Amino acid sequence: MKIAVIGGGYVGLVTGACLANFGHGVTIVEGDPTRYAMLASGKIPIHEPGLEELVALQCEKRLLSFAPDLRGALEGVDAVFLAVGTPSRRGDGHADLTYIFAAVRQVAAALTAPAVLVTKSTVPVGTGRRIANLMQELRPDLAIDVASNPEFLREGKALLDFMRPDRIVVGCAGGHARALLEAIYAPLTARGAKLLVTGIETAELIKYAANSFLAMKISFINEMADICERVAADVADLVQGLGLDSRIGAQFLQPGPGFGGSCFPKDTEALARIAQDAGAPSRLVESTIAANSARKAGLGARINQACGGSVAGLKIAVLGLTFKPDTDDLRDSPALPVMHRMVEDGATVHAYDPQGMEQARLYFDDNVSFHDSAKAALLGADVAIIMTEWAEFQRLSARDMHQWMRGHCIIDMRNVFEPSAFQAEGFSVTGIGRPWSAIQARPLAEIRSTRETGSQRS
Ligand code: UDX
Repeated sequence: MKIAVIGGGYVGLVTGACLANFGHGVTIVEGDPTRYAMLASGKIPIHEPGLEELVALQCEKRLLSFAPDLRGALEGVDAVFLAVGTPSRRGDGHADLTYIFAAVRQVAAALTAPAVLVTKSTVPVGTGRRIANLMQELRPDLAIDVASNPEFLREGKALLDFMRPDRIVVGCAGGHARALLEAIYAPLTARGAKLLVTGIETAELIKYAANSFLAMKISFINEMADICERVAADVADLVQGLGLDSRIGAQFLQPGPGFGGSCFPKDTEALARIAQDAGAPSRLVESTIAANSARKAGLGARINQACGGSVAGLKIAVLGLTFKPDTDDLRDSPALPVMHRMVEDGATVHAYDPQGMEQARLYFDDNVSFHDSAKAALLGADVAIIMTEWAEFQRLSARDMHQWMRGHCIIDMRNVFEPSAFQAEGFSVTGIGRPWSAIQARPLAEIRSTRETGSQRS
């Protein structure tokens, strides 16, 4: 099969490299000159485990190539995948479809033979129908079938999610588009992946509904964690008690500082708008958005409380800036409002993230000190805040932190640490939803007294 993928961003790159891995000939069209130059020279502008190697291998096998524009890229293609960005529109939360329709017009102008136009980007319900109408209007001379094929890729696990999908969703009117997409994904269905074929609108809604349901599940467990803190229950056991119910499942039940990333916030907002416009507002989706925003807004107060009422004058080490581990992406990361608030409240903030440092510097001027290791950020700190559950933070030992830090306050927003070892070293550990979460806020005087003596802990 000959395939073009429009958009060399996160989704386009993963899709193009994996489709090439199936043996299809793939050209990824990237219109941004800087990004195109990076891709053409073999550099991958995102951190996604395994992607750089897979792209290099497919390019070496001449199954994958890059083009700066559509000229020549659509020659003889069987399918064109739209993988351009659909960011939230400023102010109203609707998905901005500027790039989608610009790409559709360019494809319409460049096509010289029939092909299937497949929307991989996340688009509001009804967009596929609009694309089909536009294509018919622009190229009545060509039989262009339109399909929806939403992605369910998690950052940090994208190749796994593509190669071992729980399901492949295809929305189309049937006929040629269905047969073509069944052939494209045959390597996955041959290994048992389920391919669900439905209408275009249903496929578009499945994507939003899936992300919104997962976001709702996270907000639910975050609220249960808040209850646990007030009734001395333990959310870790509560998660087990819920997750062992096969109807609930244990995934996406880890409490934390709130969800972030480039998808959940954007897709819940878009679905809320779609529902409102359709005259069937979703109070559950709207509540999920509100609960998550309130949670992030409340993190500063949680930190001040754990520090005895105020962080003014304290040296705070923030470990983890990305919205989740195994990515360099800080979009909507809860670490961002936390760090801004700590600076506003008079703390000096020192930060470290294994992958997110370059991106982080774009969000802060010189009011935050960035370090190249956890140790460097922790040296002399009164307080350590774990914002992202990177594996390397789970390996930090209580003894090391005791050596490095000046104070003894740990605020673990991801329940990374098993507190007993840290409490044995004299640390107060405030987790999320753990029985000791709300009772460990040491009086400020005690935290400061350690500071005043200036004693580098023995
Ligand atoms: C998500 C969907 O999982 C994926 O299917 C879709 O295609 C894109 O959006 P992603 O945004 O990469 O993927 O990250 P994900 O792993 O889903 O985490 C999203 C947010 O939820 C992160 O901020 C993460 O920290 C948070 N989260 C996730 C929790 O707080 N608790 C959990 O149990 C799981």
